[in-house]
Amino acid sequence: MPDAVKLGFVPLSAVARGVLVVFCDETLKFGPAARKAIGGAADQVRRAAAASEFKGKRGKTLDILAPAGLKASRLIVVGAGKASELKEHDYLKLGGVAAGKLPASAAEATIVAELPHGALKPAQIADIAAGARLRAYSFDRYKTKKKDDDNGKLRARISVAVKDVAAARKAFAATGAVVEGVLMTRELVNEPPNVLYPEEFARRATQLRKLGVQVEVLDARAQARLKMGALLGVAQGAKHQSRVVVMRWNGGARSERPIAFIGKGVCFDSGGISIKPSASMEEMKGDMAGAACVTGLMHALAARKAKVNVVGAIGLVENMPDGNAQRPGDIVTSMSGQTIEIINTDAEGRLVLADVLWHVARKFKPKFMVDLATLTGAILVALGQEYAGLFSNNDELAQRLTAAGQATSERLWRLPLGPEYDKMIDSKFADVKNAGARNAGSITAAQFLQRFVDDTPWAHLDIAGTAMASPSSDINRSWGSGFGVRLLDRLVADHYEK
Ligand code: BES
Ligand code: MN
Ligand code: ZN
Repeated sequence: MPDAVKLGFVPLSAVARGVLVVFCDETLKFGPAARKAIGGAADQVRRAAAASEFKGKRGKTLDILAPAGLKASRLIVVGAGKASELKEHDYLKLGGVAAGKLPASAAEATIVAELPHGALKPAQIADIAAGARLRAYSFDRYKTKKKDDDNGKLRARISVAVKDVAAARKAFAATGAVVEGVLMTRELVNEPPNVLYPEEFARRATQLRKLGVQVEVLDARAQARLKMGALLGVAQGAKHQSRVVVMRWNGGARSERPIAFIGKGVCFDSGGISIKPSASMEEMKGDMAGAACVTGLMHALAARKAKVNVVGAIGLVENMPDGNAQRPGDIVTSMSGQTIEIINTDAEGRLVLADVLWHVARKFKPKFMVDLATLTGAILVALGQEYAGLFSNNDELAQRLTAAGQATSERLWRLPLGPEYDKMIDSKFADVKNAGARNAGSITAAQFLQRFVDDTPWAHLDIAGTAMASPSSDINRSWGSGFGVRLLDRLVADHYEK
């Protein structure tokens, strides 16, 4: 696992040393187990709540040091707000808020997974645990000066206290698999580009074999044999060779057609000859977040033994300027046979995806394809960091994705496609050009992809705003958010498992 936090379930009766976390509602009421755990400190809690005007609002906390008569060194009360207003996603957040209050110095912590209004379902308990684990993750592999509580890094053993330990463990088997997938995605996105170049990314993907995933790695020669001229054109300016990785999880019936997820894996995007300005160029190490999501999703689905057949395919390249780099004006021939005029070498993601989408559509004839890509800066202009852009040729798929987004709080906003936009990428010299004018940049990028999906039901998620340089949230403090793993796991669980 990426970092040092350990998480487990214990019975409510377990004695809590270290930090104790309990939940209350908006009337400062506790459940029976929490009341018991607080014991003689109840009066101290009431006075501290009054003194700090803590009213149990959702997400607000009360922190009491050395609570009277308790073994715990610290008692943290987390407000859960009104019971009737708790939505599905809130349990994850409550776990995140709880973990967020644990001091870096804590060796042990106990979260009493109980709300004052009746018993929690095992799935809700699993979400509280998952939220805590997601919040506790931090990427510090390259910090060599780790002092006691340097950079707020949590190393606690977190025990989640529950009435029915077996039921909680059972529910967490699946939820925990998804959490591991999210953490894998975050880790890949956070890694620096001198470490995580295409070959190394592919090597990490092969580790999914341990979970029963079939992993095929296509090197540059195999790509050339398949005539992936669009992808190879992007890669030709880089020292590091490109890789295409095809991962397969067969958890469904033999005869069942697979579903497919495709990821943009530009391990570093300098822009190529159309070079980017220096400011924030280091962030382009995250231009492989789509591929990282697909890989983390495959981990999640395999680890929880999802009853579905899935193909995960990622195109891994580096976009670099060089004597051999692709030029604006070049015309390349994609695997589909369509010729592409290169207008801007910084519009490289769509070139990579064109060949991977075509390959997957032809080879696997999937029920649908969803691609994920940090594709355009324009999607940040349109949606900021709150929603990812959704484009689709299929209303049912778009609706299912949107619903999964609402349920997981990895939200999507659909934008239009249409012939008027498609015209904007007709080329004077080839079948299509890789960049339109300035207007509608995210849409013309999606139109480009649509030319390479044939009639396959397809959706494109532009995650440039949501996958990297992420704002802090209750369940994430890391630069790479892991966006998309929980969303797509949910899509699969709700609609495509037998
Ligand atoms: N990887 C970038 C998009 C991006 C921008 C991702 C900011 C994350 C944050 C992509 O390859 C790119 O450079 N797109 C260009 C397209 C343009 C040249 C048509 C863009 O958005 O400017
Ligand atoms: Mn680019
Ligand atoms: Zn890019």
